[in-house]
Amino acid sequence: MTEQPIVVLGATGRTGRRVVQALARDGRHVRSASRTPRGPGAVRFAWEDPASWEPTLSGAGALYLVTPDGVPVDPAFVEAAVGRGVRRLVLLSSGAVEEMGDQRLLDAERLVRDSGAEWTVLRPGWFDQNFDEGFFAPAVVAGEVLVPVGELRQAFVDATDIAAVAAAALTRGGHAGQVYEVRGPEALTFAEAVAVVSRVSGRSVRFTGDPEAYRAALTAAGRPVEVTEAELAAFAALCRRGDDEPGDVVERVTGRPPASFADYAAAAAARGAWRG
Ligand SMILES: NC(=O)c1ccc[n+]([C@@H]2O[C@H](COP(=O)([O-])OP(=O)(O)OC[C@H]3O[C@@H](n4cnc5c(N)ncnc54)[C@H](OP(=O)(O)O)[C@@H]3O)[C@@H](O)[C@H]2O)c1
Repeated sequence: MTEQPIVVLGATGRTGRRVVQALARDGRHVRSASRTPRGPGAVRFAWEDPASWEPTLSGAGALYLVTPDGVPVDPAFVEAAVGRGVRRLVLLSSGAVEEMGDQRLLDAERLVRDSGAEWTVLRPGWFDQNFDEGFFAPAVVAGEVLVPVGELRQAFVDATDIAAVAAAALTRGGHAGQVYEVRGPEALTFAEAVAVVSRVSGRSVRFTGDPEAYRAALTAAGRPVEVTEAELAAFAALCRRGDDEPGDVVERVTGRPPASFADYAAAAAARGAWRG
């Protein structure tokens, strides 16, 4: 690749931060972008502020494209990126987007496919880091993780491995036009994953997978009925899709096997996650 900067959106987020680290380790010219820029060469980027787009994209050759939950990829931004010379786009999408009808990410996938640039789509499973950096972290500390998927097996994947795949796709040939299902090395039930977290954290944490318990908990928390029902429908679709198989994308793309959930959890506990 050239010395043109590689722009990483969501550079303070769970995958973006790790993409920045992977590219920096590889000696690449990285431009970190987020609303709260941190570190040398970081720029302010906000989806809702098109004035921030030009400084973000100026002179860039490749782009890691990620939006936070609920925020769509703006077509005008993709157009601006390609128009300003970005030749390679790596999009963070999600596994099961089709079955779960995730229109936001399906639209984003279509945008990068139709962009005219080289593109790679990453469809990861549930991040391991949801348990310590993400939406399950407060639940772990509170002692109960509630996800209405029963005994469904999911190939939880380490965000560091997703980032390593992204860094390879951003910097090396051979990944254009690929849709990568990025999965971990084993498919665990949530009950098994929570048991691992419980053991390494020394906390008593249980898992509840019953949709009725989920509905009752969200109703009690004041969540609008239509939001809860839409979530339950998406989880039901995920369950109909069936158990995940472990994936080989991480090893094929990076040359090293993906981290196990147990390794992730042990490292997180050693760092002091879940001390509350
Ligand atoms: N969690 C999972 O298991 C999972 C699995 C598959 C796919 N995904 C997908 O992964 C994507 C990222 O989700 P995540 O929860 O992991 O988020 P994240 O990347 O950890 O955090 C969001 C990042 O975007 C930045 N950001 C937030 N609002 C912004 C805005 N308005 N304009 C510009 N930047 C903004 C944040 O930094 P600042 O606050 O500094 O701006 C942060 O760097 C989502 O599309 C999600 O659906 C998640």
